[in-house]
Amino acid sequence: MALLKIARMGTPVLATRAREVEDPTDPEIRRIVADMTETLADSGGVGLAAPQVHVPLRIVLFHVPGSRAGGADGAGGGGAVPLTVLINPVLTPIGAETDGAWEGCLSLPGLTGWVPRHIKLHYRAVDLDNQPMEVTCEGFHARVVQHECDHLDGVLYPMRMTDMSNFGFVDEIKKAMAAQGQPD
Ligand code: NI
Repeated sequence: MALLKIARMGTPVLATRAREVEDPTDPEIRRIVADMTETLADSGGVGLAAPQVHVPLRIVLFHVPGSRAGGADGAGGGGAVPLTVLINPVLTPIGAETDGAWEGCLSLPGLTGWVPRHIKLHYRAVDLDNQPMEVTCEGFHARVVQHECDHLDGVLYPMRMTDMSNFGFVDEIKKAMAAQGQPD
């Protein structure tokens, strides 16, 4: 396995629609996912999409840690989710309800923004054995899947923001919130 270089905003691969994976059981796909898994673990993030490691294919990885499953930053619970690989995912929002939360992205290091997302979501995908999965989720689980799958369509979270005054450097925004008496 290997740690992969993470593409930062401005790199063309992040602004391009990724291609469908033709054979999810291809050993090359398994190798890419193994490297992405190691890269995600090293980064400390919750999700990673293949275009972020310069691979223009429709593959994402994510997990929902227990500490993020309670709904504090994603409206509603849903519980922890172990590391999950989605190949060729298709998302269908459920209802029109949205909620905002602070998001970050490994491709925009040091930055954060307040991003509205659909609260409830249905998605389907296949895994590395080409086995189909269908999931209905909400809250942080739904948020991270929307964020990661946006990468497959060349969309980064600032493009989903509705108020760019809520975009900035994490440490500055934390300082400003502390000054307002709103720590974290
Ligand atoms: Ni991201």
